[in-house]
Amino acid sequence: MRRRRFLRTTAGAGLCALASRSALADDAEVVLTPGQAGPTIDPHIYGHFIEHLGGVIYDGIWVGRESKIANVGGIRKRFVDDMKRIGAPNLRWPGGCFADGYHWRDGIGAASGRPRTYNYWEHRMPEGVRATETNQFGIHEFMRLCRLVGAEPYVAANVGSGSPKEFHDWVSYCNAPAGTLALADERGKNGDPEPFGVKYWGVGNESWGCGGNMSGGEYATEYRKYIAQVPTYVRPYFVATGPRGHSADGDVGWTEGFFAGLQNVRGLGVRVDGFALHYYTDFRQTAEDGARFDARGWYAVLHKGLHIEKVIEDHWRIMGRYDKEHKTRFVIDEWGNWYRGGTELGPAYILSQAMTLRDALHTAITFDVFNRHADKIAMANVAQTVNCLHSLFAAVGDKYARTPVYHVFDMYRPHMGGHLVPMRVQAADLTVPLLGGSAKLPGVSGSASIKDRRLAVSLTNPSLEDAVSLVVRLEGGGAVAEGKGTVLTHAEMTAANTFDAPDAVAPTALPVRVSGDAARVTLPPRAVACLDLRLA
Ligand code: AHR
Repeated sequence: MRRRRFLRTTAGAGLCALASRSALADDAEVVLTPGQAGPTIDPHIYGHFIEHLGGVIYDGIWVGRESKIANVGGIRKRFVDDMKRIGAPNLRWPGGCFADGYHWRDGIGAASGRPRTYNYWEHRMPEGVRATETNQFGIHEFMRLCRLVGAEPYVAANVGSGSPKEFHDWVSYCNAPAGTLALADERGKNGDPEPFGVKYWGVGNESWGCGGNMSGGEYATEYRKYIAQVPTYVRPYFVATGPRGHSADGDVGWTEGFFAGLQNVRGLGVRVDGFALHYYTDFRQTAEDGARFDARGWYAVLHKGLHIEKVIEDHWRIMGRYDKEHKTRFVIDEWGNWYRGGTELGPAYILSQAMTLRDALHTAITFDVFNRHADKIAMANVAQTVNCLHSLFAAVGDKYARTPVYHVFDMYRPHMGGHLVPMRVQAADLTVPLLGGSAKLPGVSGSASIKDRRLAVSLTNPSLEDAVSLVVRLEGGGAVAEGKGTVLTHAEMTAANTFDAPDAVAPTALPVRVSGDAARVTLPPRAVACLDLRLA
């Protein structure tokens, strides 16, 4: 896994310069062309997902109004504060698989009068542990959470066991102006006279599985019915169910079937704003868990994580055959690592798992892929924000910790709303061991964006052994006036934040040496770094 040194002589260097070449040598060079900045990186790419599943809503977010745990009207205060701190742009709710069994009326009205209902995740609970849905967290509580955080709501509607009417009524309940419909009056009586203004609507979830076991063509028919008469108090942004991107074949058949099913339909025209690709870096069928792994497990997760780029490109190509102008963009509303069980926070906290430095680097390379495809991606939502798979937070009773993944969300904030800057990386690939066999992994991966003459440059060094000395160079003129850096790393690849040691993995300052059109840093092994370069 040793790095080959990437040697570079400065432009015009002659024999004299060659004498001091080793002093100038860098392991890697990153060339940026800010003059050719491209599409805006939608802040919604840094979005979230919360579901009525295990300990996500109940305990993770909703602690109840009478709780001793610091809360704002029943919502965990530390969760609100941290989500605000990272500028969480959106929240997808109520599922996931739960969404296609959820009937929104169960979650409104006096809390004491709400019914106890079946939760889809009941079948996954361990013996003796129930998942009965108490409906204490419904649309009003969700909207309060969104307002507290400053996040845009993204509501997944029930297609699997609902009806177009139930969907349309929910849209009216959320969006009809006060004093218009009876549903608006009802909303007012339940505490919110002003409309919620929900724009993002998921038309079902995973309709190829828990959302209805449909084929792409069958779902296209349902989709058309669901959107035909939607009330338009707010111009809705419809998100159609997309493929199971982590399937062996990438599930390209779903995308073909769905878009083909929308063709040649008479009527007013069928709009698909977002197409919900799901991609889990899926290790459920292996012995890999979230906490204990070796070098093979480290590299296997990063290698499989990077595969999302091919999945995006493959489906984009298919979509382009039906939608030449690419009006439909991706909403990658579930992504993250999924290990086999064994590291849950407790029996009721199903699907929760340990998050380590490995997951932080996976988050970074995923965000770099998303940034590099900013033209294709309208939104993405990590699965899921708290007490679940790829979580930023663990919260059990009064215990609370930010995982290493949280810090990457924080470090990548400057990319939100920036313009993508073309980046060329020259670094030798690493040959790395996987769970079976070996593969090549980019020696350095990253992305760059520009906002207000400040360059945000994110860089990951996946090597477990070697540091990388790296030069970032501007192409096409311009100079770097000032540079600052932050790095997230740890001596142990399995390092994690626990309730007892919540800051074991935390970012520190990274020295940046600036000179003319270049900035130099040394990336430690196992590290993600973000540079803030102010242009002269
Ligand atoms: O995020 C956990 C589950 O994974 C979601 O409920 C479902 O949509 C997906 O299969």
